[in-house]
Amino acid sequence: MKAGLLATAPGFEAADESSRRDPPLIRPEKLQAFVDPLPIPPLAKKTGTRPSPTKRSVQVPYYRLPIHEFACKVHRDVPATRFWGYGGSMPGPTIEVRRGEEILVEWPNELPRKHFLPIDNKIMGAERDKPEVRTVVHLHGGRVPPESDGYPENWYESGKSAIYHYLNDQDAALLWYHDHAMGINRLNVLAGMLGLYVVRDVLEDSLNLPKGGQEIPLVITDRMIREDGQLHYPVSRRPGGIWVPEFFGDAVLLNGKLLPYLDVEPQRYRFRILNGSNGRFYHLALSDNGPMQQIGTDQGLLSAPVKLSLLTIAPGERLDVVIDFADRAGETIVLQNDAVGIMQIRVGRTRVNDPSSLPQKLRPIPKVLESAAVKTRRLTLDEVDTILDDPMVHLLDGKRWHEPISEKPALGTTEIWELVNTTDDTHPIHLHLVRLQVLDRRSFDVPAFLYEKKFKYTSEAIPPDANETGWKDTVRAAPGAVTRIIVPFDGYPGRYVWHCHILEHEDNEMMRPYEIVKA
Ligand code: C2O
Ligand code: CU
Ligand code: CU
Repeated sequence: MKAGLLATAPGFEAADESSRRDPPLIRPEKLQAFVDPLPIPPLAKKTGTRPSPTKRSVQVPYYRLPIHEFACKVHRDVPATRFWGYGGSMPGPTIEVRRGEEILVEWPNELPRKHFLPIDNKIMGAERDKPEVRTVVHLHGGRVPPESDGYPENWYESGKSAIYHYLNDQDAALLWYHDHAMGINRLNVLAGMLGLYVVRDVLEDSLNLPKGGQEIPLVITDRMIREDGQLHYPVSRRPGGIWVPEFFGDAVLLNGKLLPYLDVEPQRYRFRILNGSNGRFYHLALSDNGPMQQIGTDQGLLSAPVKLSLLTIAPGERLDVVIDFADRAGETIVLQNDAVGIMQIRVGRTRVNDPSSLPQKLRPIPKVLESAAVKTRRLTLDEVDTILDDPMVHLLDGKRWHEPISEKPALGTTEIWELVNTTDDTHPIHLHLVRLQVLDRRSFDVPAFLYEKKFKYTSEAIPPDANETGWKDTVRAAPGAVTRIIVPFDGYPGRYVWHCHILEHEDNEMMRPYEIVKA
């Protein structure tokens, strides 16, 4: 992708107007590595109870997570960084619930009225007539009624608030909440507006997986950080342009820390990993190439563990991974991304008795049969190239956000969506509300399709990887391929969205509304 490369290529920073005035970016490789312990985000505490919106006689837990400005240190030797986030930490406090336990969360917007990151008023939804600072919270992976889903246009400004109702009627899984405000979502999430949300259930309890101090959340976000400690977001070099097609920072933060270390005992640990980055994909491995057992994906446990030494994770995706350090007493291992160390793991010397287990059967995942689908939609992922002063945009099915809703699945029915990726990028495609299964991926002749309107497959259909065979909510649509997903549209009737989870794409038209209609 030409423009994307340009925007992030070395040397770009020097030409970037704002960075000429701003202090230079820190180079993580120049910092002392592994001097800060990995922070664990605090658990959200309920502030009381309130009547359930649906059953007034029932009191449900009430949480309040104000969105405001705070500062925290990403590294011992870097001055404190300003963040905008939930409840005073980046990532925000982790909300933990049991399956079926209803909760209410209030999300007050207590932010300043001026944004500190570069807003592009030419982007749909971020025009000059809109307040600069707006938020709306989405629970990614949550089976949430439309009023509480955080529809991108339901943003509210500083001084306003919203109370959302989460019913948690879904399998145990690692979900996450994050900002979804139309046209500035990439900036808000980068500023720190994200946090974890864990759903637990009895099936998961029965497996006796590592828990407590042996269950480690790991939120991975890359950032550009200046020598004064402040976040940087680049602007386009195009005359008058601001929006850039993708963001990649050199500073990879784990739970908000740069190059942290983690002390572990020689026993099993369960890592709950979220890629909360705007655009970066990670390829995670241990420096000793040791095995990792992936036990779950976006929407919860797989049917059986999958042994891997390399884990790929796209923006928005989650991984549930067990690593056994029993044979590595006294060793130091480094968690790497593309061979670059991002966290040190120090294994204690004294053997311990590990009470946890790693069952070979986790939970049954019935395969949704293609014959169950009542409809197949072919939806293109397109790149519309730069013309004159307009930067390129990515579109879904050739349509912009404001065009009439074209995807209207009936509640309770199953559909197959064929994501025809005509671009050179992998786009992580996410559907709100529902969970999906990946059917297959198959290459096709892109030029023939684009220029001759002829559709021709050029390979056999490749089934999903073993670690993609569980329930997902975000799927990597490979370049030059058709990725087929099967989706039961269960939940609630109403308006939701589907979009690319590269936030720069999402903010600039690679998002579409869809509507679940009553059957
Ligand atoms: Cu993770 Cu529409 O979002
Ligand atoms: Cu979502
Ligand atoms: Cu994309």
